[in-house]
Order: sequence, then structure tokens, then C-alpha cells
Amino acid sequence: MICYNETFFYLTLFSTKNTTMTDTNKITETTENTQHHRNVNTFMKRRTHMPKNAEQALTDPSFAKYLVNVHTEKPIVNHIADKAKQNPKTHRLAKIEGISDDVSGITDLRALFADTENGADAPLTLEIGFGMGDSLIEMAIAEPQRNFIGIEVHEPGIGRCAYMAYENGLDNLKIINGDAIKLMQQLPDNHIDRVQLYFPDPWQKKRHYKRRFVSPERMEIVKRVLTKSGWFHCATDWEHYSQWMLEVLDNVEGLTNTAGKGNFTPRPDFRPMTKFERRGIERGHGIWDLIYSKD
Ligand SMILES: C[S@@+](CC[C@H](N)C(=O)[O-])C[C@H]1O[C@@H](n2cnc3c(N)ncnc32)[C@H](O)[C@@H]1O
Repeated sequence: MICYNETFFYLTLFSTKNTTMTDTNKITETTENTQHHRNVNTFMKRRTHMPKNAEQALTDPSFAKYLVNVHTEKPIVNHIADKAKQNPKTHRLAKIEGISDDVSGITDLRALFADTENGADAPLTLEIGFGMGDSLIEMAIAEPQRNFIGIEVHEPGIGRCAYMAYENGLDNLKIINGDAIKLMQQLPDNHIDRVQLYFPDPWQKKRHYKRRFVSPERMEIVKRVLTKSGWFHCATDWEHYSQWMLEVLDNVEGLTNTAGKGNFTPRPDFRPMTKFERRGIERGHGIWDLIYSKD
């Protein structure tokens, strides 16, 4: 059950006048006399109920093999519920202590699998924004010879995904807590076989379009980290975003739409139904998939 949604942005946006995307998450705002660079996140940190099994995975060292940058040695001392009791006014913004979202030291995803049965050279998928993790776990179970890495900022989802990985005895999955853009900016060229982005936040208001994960600048980063013939696969249940994705991606030089320019891909069988996909279908939305291959 979701207790509440925490709704804060890391950085507050000011006026959207005269803005242009210049670099990944940076936006340039030009006013009459000055030029500011502001970071524009693609995500909003949501604080929701921390399920018991997720909390266990984030604190118990038995789950450490799945959590690349989460500090499991340090127990969560300030669980949200305790915080709420201590300080009802501020608990909604409380950060759970003991959990890191620092990706700065992660510069090689393949090396994370060096000691596993698959090893570092196995095909590698990066899933951006796996939510609660069910579909990522399903994919990792279905393809044991492929390595999977999921990156998320939603801590209950990170914990839950690690819990499910442990329960299923997976050896081909790792989880990173943090911003996918920051992570990819540090990775070598031609590093990942598949990048998947399923049902990203649609950012429906025009003034928020700049937050959409699919943008020309961010897709250049994705392209750079993909191997030759590697895939970028995205899906959405928002029609406006689907057209936006098609328009942006069809115009990235060096990426080829596997369904042909201007076309969506029929829903592939290998993509499990995700939580947000199900929610979209229940609302009567359509589903649009796109798969691009790096030339
Ligand atoms: C709408 S949810 C979709 C979750 C899941 N893929 C699904 O289909 O059920 C989008 C998720 O992307 C995550 N997200 C957004 N921007 C991100 C970023 N830059 N890095 C990592 N995760 C991000 C959010 O925290 C959120 O959980």
C-alpha cells in the first residue's frame, strides 16, 4: 500500500523562457544579461512505503552482492515510520540514512560480473528506471546467460528488486541506486549490448518536456555506450510521448529504427508486462514500443 508520495525536485526550476537543451541534463537559460546552467533531472524522488522485504534487502549483508553502491554495512536507523514519529512535520522529506545514491565510482559495468559464472564478457543489458523490479527479474530469469544491470532512484523498488533477486538465486543481476544519465556519462564507449527504458515518466506538461528521458542529447549518450549493433528499446503508454520518442530517435544519426523510419515495433514477447504498462492499459491507453540498433 502506498502511504504517501514525496514530491520534491532536487533542483527547482525557474522560468522556462528562452530555454534550449545544451548538454545531457543541463539546460541553458538566457536572460537579458546573464546565462545560467541548471541541472534538469529526468526523475522526481518519490518517497513511498518501504516494504519489509525491501528494507531487509537494503540492510542485511546477505543481499550485498546485488547492490552495487548501497551501503549495507550501515543499517537503516531512521526508517520513515520512526522519522514520522520523531518529527511529523518533516518526515515526508526524510532521507533514509545508510543508503547511497553515489554513482561516481562506477565506471565499468562489465567488471561487476567478473566473479560470476557468466563473467564480464557475457551480453549485457542495462535497464533504466525498473520501478519495483518485477519485469527486470523476469527477464534475468528468462535469460540466465545474459547479464542484467538495473538502475533506479526509488529506494523501495531497489530493495524489493534485490530481495527478489536473492529469493530467485540470480547470479546475473546487479542493481545500482542513482541517476542513469550520470552513470552512462562515466562509462566507456561501446560498453552495453542493450539499453532498455520501459514506461518512463511521461512529463506531460509542456514546461516539463525538457525532463523527458528521451531527448536528442541524452540519446547521444545512450548511443555512445551501446556496442555496434546494440539495441536501445523503449516503450510508453502515452501517445504524445510515443510520437516524441519516434521523432527524436528517428533523427539520431547512427541509430536505425529496426521497424523502419516512422514505424513502431509490434510489442515483443520478450518484454514482460510492467507495472506501469498494466496501469496504462487499465486506463485505456495504447502501448508503443521502439527498438533502435546502433550502426
Ligand atoms: C513511470 S516509472 C516506470 C517503472 C517501470 N519501468 C514500469 O514500467 O513499471 C519510471 C521510473 O524511472 C525512474 N527514473 C526516472 N529517471 C531516472 C533516472 N535518470 N535514473 C534512474 N531511474 C530513473 C523513476 O524513479 C521511476 O521509478
